[in-house]
Amino acid sequence: MSADDYSFGFEIDVFCFFFLDNATTPLAPEVVDYVTEALTNAWANPSSSTDIGHKAKELIDQSREKIATMLNAEASEIIFVSGGTEANNMVLQTALKYFKSWAGKSHKESSYKPHIVTTNVEHDAILLPLKHFEEQQLAVVDYVPVSTSCGQVLVDEIEKNITDNTCLVTVMLANNETGVIMHVADIFRKIRKLNEIREMEGLCKILLHTDAAQAIGKITVDVKELGVDYLTVVGHKFYGPRIGALYIKDLGDANIPLYPMFFGGGQERRLRPGTENTPMIHGLGCAAELVTRNLKIYQENMLKMRHLLEQLLVVRIFNIVNVEEFGKNVIINCNAVTRLPNTCSVSFSKTAMTGGEILSRCPELMASTGAACHGTGKPSEILMASGVTFEDARSAVRLSVGRETTSKQIERTVSMLKSAVNLL
Ligand SMILES: Cc1ncc(COP(=O)(O)O)c(C=O)c1O
Repeated sequence: MSADDYSFGFEIDVFCFFFLDNATTPLAPEVVDYVTEALTNAWANPSSSTDIGHKAKELIDQSREKIATMLNAEASEIIFVSGGTEANNMVLQTALKYFKSWAGKSHKESSYKPHIVTTNVEHDAILLPLKHFEEQQLAVVDYVPVSTSCGQVLVDEIEKNITDNTCLVTVMLANNETGVIMHVADIFRKIRKLNEIREMEGLCKILLHTDAAQAIGKITVDVKELGVDYLTVVGHKFYGPRIGALYIKDLGDANIPLYPMFFGGGQERRLRPGTENTPMIHGLGCAAELVTRNLKIYQENMLKMRHLLEQLLVVRIFNIVNVEEFGKNVIINCNAVTRLPNTCSVSFSKTAMTGGEILSRCPELMASTGAACHGTGKPSEILMASGVTFEDARSAVRLSVGRETTSKQIERTVSMLKSAVNLL
């Protein structure tokens, strides 16, 4: 194999890996340069008045601009956080405090509970804080089921679940296991209209959040088109470092609140205190700039490679054994709707093997059976909620192509899977 075969992979000793896992993307070489530059030349405290401190502050400001440009937002609407989990928790915690403050001003009884609407396929960084709120009786939550025929949540289903006490709707922009893109702009358009009526009726305004962790770098993410109040940005999903950002519409305007979870220094307008992680922030800015500049090119390659992957999976694996028994049972999950260009969830139904067992027979292939953070070994609840049967969810493998995935890598991946499944 030539060096090109490993352009999206990496080598450890003599083993070569094909990396088809969107749990984390590798760092773009430019990002590594940016991080290194900041580590070397802008290591000082960004709040210090030394030249090197000013340089660090300057890099942070530039990065904020770059993230804002990528999202069609203003730099003043971006704050840096540690990652997606923190950004999501900050929005959820904000919703609770916001409701409490609204209820206080509206002289509601203290027994009034905030109500939050979400979907049943969100990432754990949304689902688990919400479960915690329920356990602690801090909020009432509705987890609206996505359609089992397509994996998308229907606009009307979200609307139906709204109550007088709803203070937040959070719907992910794209699902991390299926790649299904949700109708966030349509959902939020409806709720903004509803907010106008609620305001006249003296009801709590509904805040709107989307977790765009998986969507950024794969599709256009424009906060104005989406009509969001908050949007979660996660660097390590778009070839950036492991750090995140939160977009807050008109930050500072009392209409869209943001409450800190931590208390300390004055960084990030006191909303996220703590000395800034300049190198990672600088790297995140670089990753955002690459997306702004090259999204179309990235998309083109991802789509082309995923298309090839899915074609080969169906055609090649179709031919390996008796068609009656096996061939028709290579299923590309949730392929009836628009998905992220990089994500392919495939089930090898009627095999005795689980997705994990199939992957363990492909030692060169780095992919996953679902969200990396679950790690339970059980069939994915998210896939089953999206209409995949228990059996098919058991044998599911998530393959995610990248910016530089090549057709050779795809061919090799399918061959590996074919041999793995053939071991049956
Ligand atoms: C959709 C989604 N949201 C949130 C997160 C959490 O991000 P992090 O682990 O960086 O905090 C992830 C990461 O897997 C994700 O895929």
